Amino acid sequence: MTHSPDATPWWRSAVVYQIYPRSYQDTTGDGVGDLAGIARRLDHVVALGVDAIWISPFYPSPMRDFGYDVSDYCAVDPIFGTLTDFDDLVAAAHARGLKLLLDFVPSHTSDAHPWFRESRASRQSAKRDWYVWADPAPGGWPPNNWLSEFGGPAWSLDEATGQYWLHIYLREQPALNWRNPAVQAAMLDVMRFWFDRGVDGFRVDAVEHLVPSAALTDNPPDPAWRPGMQEARALQRAYTAHQPEVFDAARAMRRVARDYAPERLLIGEAYGTLAEVMAYYGGEGLDGFQLPFNFQLIFADWNAASIARMVEGYEAALPAGAWPNWVMGNHDRPRIAGRIGPAQARVAAMLLLTLRGTPTIYQGEELGMVDVPIPPGMVHDPMEKNAPGQGLGRDPVRTPIPWDEGSNAGFTTGVPWLPIGGAAPVSAQERDPESMLALYRRLTALRRAEPALSLGAYRTLSASDDVLVFERRHGARRLVVALNFSDAERPLGHRGAVLLSTRAGAPAAERLAPNEGRVMEG
Ligand code: GLC
Repeated sequence: MTHSPDATPWWRSAVVYQIYPRSYQDTTGDGVGDLAGIARRLDHVVALGVDAIWISPFYPSPMRDFGYDVSDYCAVDPIFGTLTDFDDLVAAAHARGLKLLLDFVPSHTSDAHPWFRESRASRQSAKRDWYVWADPAPGGWPPNNWLSEFGGPAWSLDEATGQYWLHIYLREQPALNWRNPAVQAAMLDVMRFWFDRGVDGFRVDAVEHLVPSAALTDNPPDPAWRPGMQEARALQRAYTAHQPEVFDAARAMRRVARDYAPERLLIGEAYGTLAEVMAYYGGEGLDGFQLPFNFQLIFADWNAASIARMVEGYEAALPAGAWPNWVMGNHDRPRIAGRIGPAQARVAAMLLLTLRGTPTIYQGEELGMVDVPIPPGMVHDPMEKNAPGQGLGRDPVRTPIPWDEGSNAGFTTGVPWLPIGGAAPVSAQERDPESMLALYRRLTALRRAEPALSLGAYRTLSASDDVLVFERRHGARRLVVALNFSDAERPLGHRGAVLLSTRAGAPAAERLAPNEGRVMEG
């Protein structure tokens, strides 16, 4: 095993692309995407100019939470294919120079996992302590006030054994007890199973909830909560999220990744304050995750001043030597193009791909997809089913990719599991030099050609009058990015040669068009 620190590991200059396998490409006619479908669409991935794909879970699952309820960590659900399909996909991706990242779900299993079945069977079960069990509070109530992210208490009573099991998500997603060394060993072996099959890294799911407080202390109320908001937000997550042991767990996972050469990449999914997110880097030794996801763009007020403040705050908070990253959306959050509109979505694309740090594109962002309305009879997501009409449902952001003008947009020959729409199909966008897809391809190509964009230093030049201007510099090469957050023309002080504009036509030298973003020479 070599541990030689690589000066510039591949993931620093990389662009990551998230694939939600149910909605990428179906090859069997069952209306749900599969691994062979991803392999079939790798040409699109390569043409998009990304370096790595992260695939959301495809493991055997009862699909209560659409794959995030895993009943076998080391296999492929038949709906997605077989391990042979997986091996073929690894080979096909690597043959095209793409890295492959999987989703690792260590915080909870499905209640159908054999470990939970055994754990639940009796209090004396050898696996009882693999999950978090607690006695009822006086009166038979749940052990404490913790709430499930999906609504209701985070505890369900097992009547046969008289104890409650913890579930931070659905009752069908019992929380694993990471404090048990046997659980740690089993889960780290899951990572090795996939690393040995050739994967280049993992995105670690819901890691902030991996080790809730052992004292089971009540969470305090959150004064910011109002009726109509997600029920779980009524409480602060003081004793359920980001507990100290979580950061040790990140280090343990990283040690496994380090045992491989070249070292494998770990991305952490943890929603929290800036300080909480930074702690996942592992402190001064940077021995935690290489990339704890930075979700700020998902929640940012969309204006030049706020974005500038956010970027500077994030850059300043990074531990020495830590590498930044940026995310605008994923399978859990409303799509950016719907949130800020199609014209600003082009500005957002330029921002994502010109900031310092590894960007992650969520499938469909490259098409400018917006949330697709879901007719009541087609609702799948438990978030929507448990709190109908509150706008929490995630189905609208998980709809299939529209590939072409054929039936079901080329996604399936059967009945698609969710309605298809949200953007012009890939085939039409490929013919249109001004499409969102064409813009994304130009942006990734420019980023690849310009180390100033992929690796260079960042400096804000100005953020006023709705325009954010920043510099990226690598050695002698200096590029200037100017983004107009308004739908009116704006003066521009900088006159360098234009390398790329989000707007068609030759841009005027000293003015930014409405909603225009521009990359210029410095
Ligand atoms: C993560 C996933 C989300 C899932 C949850 C529980 O937040 O992104 O889709 O529901 O974890 O596993």
